[in-house]
Amino acid sequence: MTCRLHVPVLRDEVCGWLQPGPGRRLVDGTFGYGGHATALLDAGADVLGLDLDEVAVVACRRISTDRPRLHCQQRSFVELREALAAVGWTQCDGLLLDLGVSSPQLDDPAKGFSYRADGPLDLRFCQQRGRPAHELLVDLDETELAQILRDFGEQRGARELARAMKGAERTEPLRTTAQLAAVVRAALPATAPVNAVLSRVFQALRIAVNEELTALQSVLSQALTAVAPAGRVAVIAYHSLEDRIVKRWLDRERRDCVCPPEVPVCRCGHRAALRPLTRRAVTPSAAEIIANPRARSAKLRVAEVLPNGERSAQ
Ligand SMILES: C[S@@+](CC[C@H](N)C(=O)[O-])C[C@H]1O[C@@H](n2cnc3c(N)ncnc32)[C@H](O)[C@@H]1O
Repeated sequence: MTCRLHVPVLRDEVCGWLQPGPGRRLVDGTFGYGGHATALLDAGADVLGLDLDEVAVVACRRISTDRPRLHCQQRSFVELREALAAVGWTQCDGLLLDLGVSSPQLDDPAKGFSYRADGPLDLRFCQQRGRPAHELLVDLDETELAQILRDFGEQRGARELARAMKGAERTEPLRTTAQLAAVVRAALPATAPVNAVLSRVFQALRIAVNEELTALQSVLSQALTAVAPAGRVAVIAYHSLEDRIVKRWLDRERRDCVCPPEVPVCRCGHRAALRPLTRRAVTPSAAEIIANPRARSAKLRVAEVLPNGERSAQ
C-alpha cells in the first residue's frame, strides 16, 4: 500500500529483486499511484502499468506523458496475456503484484473501502465492473454471507454477524458504510474488539466483491508462461489469505512432482517451473513501518521462472 506522500512499500527490495535496467520489460500489475513503477522506470526498465481503478490509470497516463517507457492500461492483472499482447510484448522479464488497496483508495469515502468514513457501500476497485457490495448483500442468503465472513475475513461468530446483517437489510437496505458499521457494532458484545471486527468484515466483502483470491490464483498461473525464462515474479501480500496462495503456488511450482505422498511412483509428470528466491517472506524494516504504518503486514515473496517453465505450466 502506498500513496503519493509515501515511499511505496518495500521499494528498494522490489527494485533489487526485479533487476530493472535498460531493455528489461517489467509489468506492474497493480500500478496504484505509481510508486514502484516510477522507481523501476528510473532504473531504466520499460514498464507496463495495469490497474482496475480509473483514477490510478489517469495518474499512470499523466506520468507517461514525459516517460515514453511507461505504458498504461486500465485492466485487471487477470488479463495479463492480453495486456502484453496490446503493447506487442510476447513475454515480460518481471511481474510485480502489490496486492490490495492503496492508501488513497482507503481514504476515499466514495469507494466505500473503509468503515471509518461514510460513503456508498461499493468496495469495487473499478466501478464499471461487477456488483457493488450493497447489491451482493441483497443477493446473498445468510449462509452464503456467513461463509464469506468466515473464509475471507477469518471472522469468528460469522453466522451471528450474517444474521444481524441480513435482518437489518430486510428492514432497510444497507447502502452505506456507516449503516453497515452501525449494524455490526450493534451485533457485537460489549467486550468485542469493534474496529478489528469491522476491518475484517470490510475486508471480507471487498475480497468477495472483487473476487480477489481467484484473480490472484489466475495471474500466478499465467505468470509461468507470461514471464520469460530467468524473469522474476514479486508479490507483496497484506494478509494471510493472499500470502497462503502465493506460498502454495511457490511450493507447487518449485517441485518436479506433485503426486500425493502415498503414490510410490510419480504419475503427475509435473516439472518445476520456478526457483523461489526468498526463503522466507521479506518484511518491512521497523523504520519503514514507523514511516508508513500501513506497511506493517506486508510480505514480499519472489521467484525466478526456470527455462522449462513453459513446459510445466498447468
Ligand atoms: C497496494 S496498491 C498498489 C500501490 C502501488 N504499488 C504504488 O506504488 O503506488 C494496489 C492497487 O492494485 C489495484 N488492483 C487491485 N486488484 C487489481 C486487479 N485485479 N488488477 C489490477 N489492479 C488491481 C488497486 O486498484 C490498487 O490501485
